[in-house]
Amino acid sequence: MNMTILNLLYLLAAVLFILAFKMLSTPRRAIFGNLIGSMGMFIAVVATVLYYGFANIATVLSGIVVGGFIGALMALKVPMTSMPQMVAILNGLGGGASMMVSGISLIESIEIARTDLSTDYIASVIAGGIIGAVTLSGSLVATAKLQWHRIERPVMFKGIHILTAALLTLSVGLGILIPYTKSVNTFWLMSAVALALGVFLVLPIGGADMPVVISLLNSYSGLAAAATGFVLRNSMLIIAGSLVGTSGIILTNLMCKAMNRSFINVLLGGFGSKVIESQDIYQGRIKRASAEDVAELLRSARKVVIVPGYGMAVAQAHYPLKELVGILESRGIEVDFAIHPVAGRMPGHMNVLLAEVGIPYEKMKGLDEINPAMEQVDVAIVVGANDVVNPYAETDPKSPIYGMPIIQVYKARTVVVIKRSLASGFAGIPNPLFTYDNTLMYFEDARKAILDIIAELKSG
Ligand code: TAP
Repeated sequence: MNMTILNLLYLLAAVLFILAFKMLSTPRRAIFGNLIGSMGMFIAVVATVLYYGFANIATVLSGIVVGGFIGALMALKVPMTSMPQMVAILNGLGGGASMMVSGISLIESIEIARTDLSTDYIASVIAGGIIGAVTLSGSLVATAKLQWHRIERPVMFKGIHILTAALLTLSVGLGILIPYTKSVNTFWLMSAVALALGVFLVLPIGGADMPVVISLLNSYSGLAAAATGFVLRNSMLIIAGSLVGTSGIILTNLMCKAMNRSFINVLLGGFGSKVIESQDIYQGRIKRASAEDVAELLRSARKVVIVPGYGMAVAQAHYPLKELVGILESRGIEVDFAIHPVAGRMPGHMNVLLAEVGIPYEKMKGLDEINPAMEQVDVAIVVGANDVVNPYAETDPKSPIYGMPIIQVYKARTVVVIKRSLASGFAGIPNPLFTYDNTLMYFEDARKAILDIIAELKSG
């Protein structure tokens, strides 16, 4: 195969990647988008193998078979609530691969081909090595924080930001020394320092901010791949890496905006380290409800809105919710879901879970659509959500969530909040909604609560 055909196939793959991104932006076409993206990657891999020849085909194939098997197994086994960890591991491995490829290319240049090390080549090797290493270790720390809740709190100590700045300076300094020492060991030392940098960059960030960090690390893995593309002079890697890099930055930015937090605020960490005592505002102002009370309210309702949150995912309450929607609709009650962009712990978390149980996408309404219609809602049921319905976001300028758009359930005739206690959500702040005159608190695990409401509705 000649260079022209290779470049044409790379162009085709790049177009498929861009189409895939476009389709991934709507849940309905996301699965097809994924397939289109995979097809692009398949074309890119086959074209590369055909162009560079079959000399090492056994090694390439065994890598594809072993890696593909492990990847497929992980994808099949991972529960939806652990998806952020899975993405973090994949990002980390991508970063690690970029670091290794940069190092191996350097071994080839210094020890085998003994070529001159041009400035642009060395710059790409340094970028691939440092960004790749930071992505690898940072992603592993992020995975651990998400997987083991005992270690999710921000780890802060005096001088941590000075330490990270020093590690960054040291790793770049070592990178600059590579052409002078002409030693691959300098590269590995640089990468080791960058691995430590990744650890200290992510340690101060709390577990609940991890999805934002993972999205950022995703972007880093793309940048590392693009740098590796410059090292290998491979245009496909440069294009694919840049696409991942930019889309990761856009997603990170969107998540920060939806939480009304600045990017720097997330990166400096410490959010969620102080748990604010929340019991004071609730004293004597909480009205409790039972499954029977909620069923009674629903029987007389005409329009119901369900607001899912992180607790729905934890309790796996989306399965019985599907049945509840069916029962209400069979009785002529209009039911919609109100989805906040940062409800849960990853972008699209609620949409994915609800789609998994067959809730049609038309029923999942965004803020702009649901809020203006909230006054016509008879019952708003908040299922394991907290911050995304917290009126402090509108009323308290001192609140960390002030300015974040919320689902204005307080405008509904009656609000039922299903959660286990008065505990705060991710932001660690009290929620005055629980004390409002039109709010009823139903303290129960979300799944059990929905099942009990269904049983009451069926019995009445
Ligand atoms: P949260 O504010 O975190 O509140 C979740 C609530 O669920 C908790 O107050 C908890 O109260 C309840 N809960 C937990 N387990 C439960 C169970 N088994 N049954 C019933 N309730 C249960 O969730 P949210 O309203 O979805 O807001 C998401 C938060 O995460 C926002 O602050 C957002 O900024 C942040 N965040 C989101 C993302 C993305 S991309 N989605 C990324 C990073 C951060 P109890 O313990 O009393 O039950």
